[in-house]
Amino acid sequence: MPDRPILVFDSGIGGLTVLREVRVLMPERRFVYVADDAGFSYGDWEEDALRARIVSLFRELLREHAPELAIIACNTATTLVLSDLREAFPETPFVGTVPAIKPAAERTRSGLVSVLATPGTVRRAYTRDLIDSFASQCEVNLVGSKTLSTHAERHIRQEAVPDDEIRAEIAPCFVEDGDRHTDIVVLACTHYPFLANVFRRLAPWPVDWLDPAEAIARHAASLLEPKAESGSAPDEDIARFTSGAPDFATRRLMQSFGLAIV
Ligand code: DGL
Repeated sequence: MPDRPILVFDSGIGGLTVLREVRVLMPERRFVYVADDAGFSYGDWEEDALRARIVSLFRELLREHAPELAIIACNTATTLVLSDLREAFPETPFVGTVPAIKPAAERTRSGLVSVLATPGTVRRAYTRDLIDSFASQCEVNLVGSKTLSTHAERHIRQEAVPDDEIRAEIAPCFVEDGDRHTDIVVLACTHYPFLANVFRRLAPWPVDWLDPAEAIARHAASLLEPKAESGSAPDEDIARFTSGAPDFATRRLMQSFGLAIV
């Protein structure tokens, strides 16, 4: 049986926040990281066009890499296209990333929860359904940011990101109602955990910033048989960019994650 990789997919570098957790649980596995940077940012795409783009990309990716499992490490893509991918490629197991609304509803004490996401994720019927199914007893405030995923890309490449712009983007997450305050903000875009420390520093009051990456990793690991050590060094993990031309800072970042760009 050839050594089939796990494919991790995002519009950019946000999926690395999921990859790092998946690697903790499955260090013996080989990974292919795919960034659709030619399509970045996904937040404002028209839904039918984005759906068609991602399904067609996967036709090629699955043919080329034959992954044992594919992780859609992107809320904006998962909430739109996960069911289409499962239908188009029934032989490949897919794990998605959806806003962690259920755990937030279970943990909140004030009943005021905010979901910080891209405008696409905020618009999705999938997100509304999660609220209706799991958080009808809470007040869920959806906050769509057009710029935060780009800021996260800059921040992780060590470019300057102005505090006042980040402060303005997160401000709508903080709701007061009498003596009740928002106590949980769901990080519903895989780029945002890269900014979590900045968010904490700029927040008007402390909240839990809920990152679902570890839960996604646990779910992915539960779908695969543990793999015996082969004794030989595993093949190198690789990264692919749909633009074919990631910049120098991105190349350096991939290297620091142990990913060879192909
Ligand atoms: N990382 C993606 C997500 O989880 C979206 C980032 C973007 O394309 O702007 O939603």
